[in-house]
Amino acid sequence: MTVKEYYGADITVRFDLARCLHAGVCLRSIPEVFDTKRRPWILPDAGQASHIATVVRRCPSGALHYELTDRAAPAEAGHTPLTIRTADGSPLWVEGDLVIVHNGAAATETRAALCRCGSTANLPFCDASGPCTKWRHQPH
Ligand code: SF4
Ligand code: FES
Repeated sequence: MTVKEYYGADITVRFDLARCLHAGVCLRSIPEVFDTKRRPWILPDAGQASHIATVVRRCPSGALHYELTDRAAPAEAGHTPLTIRTADGSPLWVEGDLVIVHNGAAATETRAALCRCGSTANLPFCDASGPCTKWRHQPH
């Protein structure tokens, strides 16, 4: 697992490098918080927690997740209806309250880019190593 946590006063952002498909939504949306030219590249205190949460929910691969420090705040809810988007050569972009079971191991999820070409080294997730490499852009 390649998950790293970035702590802020109001929000913690989790980033899974193996699942990032470089869609760039985070970087384009809040460059003061997400900046790959800086270390650490995620600075949760450089933006408003509610805005960061909105942007994280738009990360199509599920590489980014968040948790608000305020435990009374609602956790991220999956998209309804559960939606699967595909296009020629793209991974399966899935959004919803998901339970992903791989080799018998179950994990809850809200967004994922699932491999459908078989060349990924990070099953069941796409790692952009197959014909999907051109799909670095948003699924919608
Ligand atoms: S896949 Fe997610 S984490 Fe990676 S660049 Fe795109 S929005 Fe950011
Ligand atoms: S669909 Fe992307 S690696 Fe298989």
